[in-house]
Amino acid sequence: MTDPRALPAPSPEALAHSARLAALIRAQIDAAGGQIPFERYMELALYAPGLGYYSAGAAKLGAAGDFITAAEISSLYAQCLAAQCRETLTVLGGGSVLELGAGSGALAAGMLSFLERAGCLPDRYLILDRSAELRERQRETIERRVPALAERVTWLDRPPQEPIRGVIVASEVVDALPVALFRIAGASGDERIEALAVTSTASNFALVPRIADAGLAAVVRGIEDDLAAPLPPGFRSECRPALDAWVASVTEPLERGVLLCVDYGLPRREYYATERSGGTLLCHYRHRAHADPFHAPGLQDIGAWVDFTALARAGAAAGLGLAGFTTQAHFLLGCGLERRFAVEIGLEPARTAELSREVQLLTLPGEMGERFRVLALARDYDRPLTGFALRDLTRTL
Ligand SMILES: C[S@@+](CC[C@H](N)C(=O)[O-])C[C@H]1O[C@@H](n2cnc3c(N)ncnc32)[C@H](O)[C@@H]1O
Repeated sequence: MTDPRALPAPSPEALAHSARLAALIRAQIDAAGGQIPFERYMELALYAPGLGYYSAGAAKLGAAGDFITAAEISSLYAQCLAAQCRETLTVLGGGSVLELGAGSGALAAGMLSFLERAGCLPDRYLILDRSAELRERQRETIERRVPALAERVTWLDRPPQEPIRGVIVASEVVDALPVALFRIAGASGDERIEALAVTSTASNFALVPRIADAGLAAVVRGIEDDLAAPLPPGFRSECRPALDAWVASVTEPLERGVLLCVDYGLPRREYYATERSGGTLLCHYRHRAHADPFHAPGLQDIGAWVDFTALARAGAAAGLGLAGFTTQAHFLLGCGLERRFAVEIGLEPARTAELSREVQLLTLPGEMGERFRVLALARDYDRPLTGFALRDLTRTL
């Protein structure tokens, strides 16, 4: 992690943009009597219209931005996810793909291109993204990379209102859903659960403890029940209060098919283990990772690891069964990564070193291979999924 004091200085224009967002957040803090929940701060920092990180014009993804996703690293990633989609669409006899949070559009373009070559184009490729700015970028990417398929793509403002069959894909989206911060205060045997709220200071924002409300306290007690032990004094972490509602809303139209979620995260017992007693909040600015959510609001990404147990339970509450859980490396290998790599270097031998590096980034344990996990939830679909054939981690959830 980078020391936030060592982060590169933003340009004067970027600082002015950040100051406008900070003023808006400060006004909301004042209106709320001096504090807002952390999840409200994160919501505004990422999505305040025209000013939030995802709503405004910053580059965000890729070399010129702040972080790089698996979809941006290699087209092999899109090919593997598309191979999983092809399998499911074939079993279903056709259907749609709904991509949630499509970023630059790289994954959509790569998947459409693969599915066309495989003779298995979805009836429709739907994209639901909160960011109007990114939706424009996705449109440009798709028109540039797969112009003949652009008319198959539809952007939505809300989940489809009619039933769909097929595959829903959420790659590195759940980590961007706002989190609530909590900590365990008090002495051993006399612990209490506190929420960490956000207040204004003379120069910026700061976390301030307050007694957790009943909802947050129940979540933390539920975590302790799962761990079969109390969290120790000083332990600080986060949870996603809106996760159940989000999963329910995006999967409601799914009549038959699979939701695939790829993200960095862990099963609950590991997520809330004492070695992560500072939580997993993770901010990215100019390809530096750090843990200060108040650094230049609006100019940096803020995320937190995904509690995959919570995600699987949110699926169960929405009527979806657990269809697979594994590491990103095993998922991609299960979807034929090695074979696809061999085909690519056969077509472009000059790119062998570059493609090897991409495969390493996607699969090595010290890169994205272990830290990133893939969870599949399914409705009215009980066929095995190829991406989960090599390693089954469902019992860890
Ligand atoms: C980290 S980027 C990942 C982009 C892309 N999936 C990739 O892997 O390159 C997160 C994306 O999710 C979108 N997003 C965040 N919250 C969302 C939500 N609640 N519903 C739909 N999209 C969302 C953001 O606008 C952005 O496009």
